Amino acid sequence: MRTPRQSKRWQKKLDDYRNNYRKIQRAAPDILKSDNFYRTKQHIQHGNVTVNDHVRDVAMYSLALSEKLHISCNREELIRGALLHDYFLYDWHTPDKVKPHRLHGFFHPGRALKNASREYKLTDREKDIIRKHMWPLTPIPPKYREAWIVTTADKWCSLMETLRLHRGHGAVLEQLRED
Ligand SMILES: [Fe+2]
Ligand SMILES: [Fe+2]
Repeated sequence: MRTPRQSKRWQKKLDDYRNNYRKIQRAAPDILKSDNFYRTKQHIQHGNVTVNDHVRDVAMYSLALSEKLHISCNREELIRGALLHDYFLYDWHTPDKVKPHRLHGFFHPGRALKNASREYKLTDREKDIIRKHMWPLTPIPPKYREAWIVTTADKWCSLMETLRLHRGHGAVLEQLRED
């Protein structure tokens, strides 16, 4: 049984969650409704979390992190970059003789950037988010604070997914959408 104080805290969490969900919907309706973004539901990222859940999870955490720490940044670009940061569009667990995915960690940011650039007119911040999100595995550090936020959120989400402590907020987002 929750105390009134705990209930209030839960309600606040849920409200924040819904607000951030709406911000993501408003910032990127074209991405969220696209066929290729939908295709990322077929690809596993870590553990049992799909790429689609992972990137929406990273967008939610990036937004929450920027707001909690009162980091002034362009939230629309932050969201769009986070949603496209893993837009490599293949399953990196499947061995592929033509395009081996063994060095996925090093090369997928470039692939994601190429794919995203084909479909969207990316800003410099969005490009920086996608290209540098694997830093320090890739040598050049992020230039914009939006990219620093996404690379931090991505590492946290990836760790939680690998330890199977995350189901991804994508699953929760689906439920919210149905409400
Ligand atoms: Fe990635
Ligand atoms: Fe990622």
